[in-house]
Amino acid sequence: MDQRRQDFDPGLPEDFDSAHALFAQLRSECPVAWTGELGGFWALTRYDDVRRAASESETFVTSVQNVIPKVAFTGRRPPLHLDPPDHTPYRRTLNPLLSPARVAQFEAVARRYARGLLEPLLAQGGGDICGEYASYLPVQVFGEWMNVPDHWIEPLHRSGRAFILAVNMNDPAAMKATSLKLYEMARELIAIRKAEPKDPASDVTSALLAAEYKGAPLPEELVVGMVRQVLVVGIVAPTVTIGSIGVHLARDRALQDELRADPAKIPAAVEEFLRLYTPYRGFARTATCPVSFGGRTIPAGEAIALVYASANRDDAVFADGGTFVLDRPNIAEHLAFGRGPHNCPGIHLGRMEVRVMLEELLAATAGFELAGPIEPARWPEIGAIAVPLRFL
Ligand code: HEM
Repeated sequence: MDQRRQDFDPGLPEDFDSAHALFAQLRSECPVAWTGELGGFWALTRYDDVRRAASESETFVTSVQNVIPKVAFTGRRPPLHLDPPDHTPYRRTLNPLLSPARVAQFEAVARRYARGLLEPLLAQGGGDICGEYASYLPVQVFGEWMNVPDHWIEPLHRSGRAFILAVNMNDPAAMKATSLKLYEMARELIAIRKAEPKDPASDVTSALLAAEYKGAPLPEELVVGMVRQVLVVGIVAPTVTIGSIGVHLARDRALQDELRADPAKIPAAVEEFLRLYTPYRGFARTATCPVSFGGRTIPAGEAIALVYASANRDDAVFADGGTFVLDRPNIAEHLAFGRGPHNCPGIHLGRMEVRVMLEELLAATAGFELAGPIEPARWPEIGAIAVPLRFL
């Protein structure tokens, strides 16, 4: 029997905190919820259900739809759009380039960029820490990691930001236009590397062009798709995370002072912030057969959101899940970077960028407070995409 009914409305106006209040209600009253909005989807909000769907990749596939709402289709982009085993060669190529040792090589660069970006904000006594700080640094660091020409940084930043705003406003035409622009850049980068290959041990595009699967090179269109995906995939989450951290610390001056006075606590604080303010609400899967969760059955072929942001506040796993607690004993269990075969390969880079941005922001200021309205992020992100701060 079809058990569908309109359990919640993800299209209602939100503020910075309201989505978390809704998820808390769904976790307790309707943990497997359906909505006809945003294309129609099921939302799993409890930790155990989300973790199961992320881990059982044979049943829960990403190749049909991987985000809510479904982004205008402009081509298949590995690794996110492929299921294992097709997905495996792309991750095998990408993972070594994002190892902890490789990421450590970019920390000094990230710090230099962070200080440079803070200078004008310090001079003017504050600013939007998402738009003027955290949206730039991941692009700059990423540009170094991808070895893109310097003059690409500004267009990449523009396209990445335009893509977030288009997704945030649920504007399919703008999403498609931005995506196609990014495809153009991906094709150009591939042409540059074909003409002058770099060392595959330190260049992702050259590594993809050199990779083989079952004795053949990876298909060119999929290499283009992967370069296109990698161009922006690592930009959004650090920006939104810093926005949310900025809001939290502006509201909690005691914690702000504690972290400023003892920066050794910042790495643990970042991990707890990632749990509490998981920047991606959730990614999507489609079940290949009917699946049951706690008595409710989801038919095969329908979009399912794995609401990581809700799972990470589930009191059944994280005691007092809506509260910031430094050094939680089970913090390693959080799902901010996903689980299973599609878990985030950029985990070390993302963590490092957020930590460095927070360290530098705290070191450069004696204190900060909110200076205006926060612009909340919408599906598929959660948190803030504009946070005006006044430095004290
Ligand atoms: C705070 C920072 C970040 C967070 C919280 C984050 C979170 C996530 C999550 C939750 C997924 C899982 C998607 C799913 O379940 O379907 C994912 C996938 C992915 N992330 Fe990240 N990410 C971050 C930064 C980065 C960075 C810096 C990169 C840079 C390369 C990156 C590259 C990717 C890629 C390529 C995938 C797709 C993996 C696959 O499908 O196998 N991420 N990320």
